[in-house]
Amino acid sequence: MAVTAVVGLQWGDEAKGKIVDILADQHEIVVRYLGGNNAGHTVMFDGQTYKLSLLPSGILRPDATSVIANGVVINPKALLSEIERIKAQGAKLGKLLISDKAHVIFPYHMAEEAILEARRGDKAIGTTMRGIGTCYRDKAGRNHAIRMGDLLRPELFRERLEEIVTDKNIILKAFDPSSQTFSAQEIYDEYMGYVEQLKDSVIDTTSYLHHELKGGSSMLFEGAQGSLLDIDHGTFPYVTSSNSSGCGIQAGSGVPSRKIDRMIGIVKAYTSRVGGGPCPTELEDETGEHIRQEGHEFGTVTGRPRRCGWFDAVATGHGARVSGVDCIAVMLLDVLSKLDELKICEAYEINGERTTDFPSQLDDLALAKPIYRTLPGWKTDITGVRKLEDFPKEAREYIDTVSELLEAEVGFVSIGPDREQTVIL
Ligand code: IMP
Repeated sequence: MAVTAVVGLQWGDEAKGKIVDILADQHEIVVRYLGGNNAGHTVMFDGQTYKLSLLPSGILRPDATSVIANGVVINPKALLSEIERIKAQGAKLGKLLISDKAHVIFPYHMAEEAILEARRGDKAIGTTMRGIGTCYRDKAGRNHAIRMGDLLRPELFRERLEEIVTDKNIILKAFDPSSQTFSAQEIYDEYMGYVEQLKDSVIDTTSYLHHELKGGSSMLFEGAQGSLLDIDHGTFPYVTSSNSSGCGIQAGSGVPSRKIDRMIGIVKAYTSRVGGGPCPTELEDETGEHIRQEGHEFGTVTGRPRRCGWFDAVATGHGARVSGVDCIAVMLLDVLSKLDELKICEAYEINGERTTDFPSQLDDLALAKPIYRTLPGWKTDITGVRKLEDFPKEAREYIDTVSELLEAEVGFVSIGPDREQTVIL
């Protein structure tokens, strides 16, 4: 019985949901360990398209148990409406467990984020405005934090909320005198309503996962966002507020990384990114627009057009190293099928020096000039390919180059949205 992890190696939106869905029925437990309802993934299942944000993909498998672990930040209102939406589509849901250590997002988190992002002007991070960063900040700061377990203790919850809301109103008014005044009583009443519906799912998921590991259960850790959005190892400050590389699994679930048998890194065959920050291989021309249209590169959560460009092996290689991948899945290869010529960035030139190290400082990254390897296009439809040997030789060369530059074997190649449009090696 295996423990598998699926992690994005770029700036998110690598189509992790599809590989998670393929693997979900081989695992008894699916664990989400970071982020919140900033993530968005699309799963096609039994002829239906499901848009998931906070729920692990395993939720669509009635036999699997889905776990929202301690590293996730939870907006209970968003969680409940997601559950309702999926149920209304006719899905039979599996069992859901929620960590009592997961931190809770409140309305003042969204209000603070809106003010802080507006104050950054043209340097705005470009967040999803879901209160993710402000909730993680309160988790690290401790004074203003409330966890799922606290919601099950009404007296303690009320007391903490009153103290916190008093402080939040002072902070918000100091930044913006016209800011809304929050009422602890109203939030308390609203959240007690959510607790009523979620309380049976809230447990100590760390102990649960360890009991299951001991009993030999198979587990799938489902990443969200991507390694380059990792708060420690990504393009800070243009990152999300959690460890969205493979580094987050241990802290976000309590399961040590040495228990993971197979770490699968997911890469898109090109680059896309939403939000601000440097992106060395971005194409602000018609090729970039072509990739955006062919790849339907518009955000699942916010609908924003994504910035698109050539595959960046320096950035993605960094993601692969910090996440410690055993193999990679190359996604959306079919999006490149109409291009005459393709480029892959194999190194950067920064101040006249060639490097394959991903810069740790944003100003260095902003100076990086991509050094490209040019490859011929295959100019043919590959969406029907089911075996590696059936790819045109130019597509094989492209896949091999990605693998060589990332120093990782290819485990999957995806050439369309359907489950069957996947070459498994
Ligand atoms: P936040 O996670 O809402 O704080 O946003 C921080 C940065 O992460 C922004 O650039 C977002 O666009 C980006 N981000 C957050 N979640 C995702 C995701 O699921 N896919 C891609 N980018 C994301």
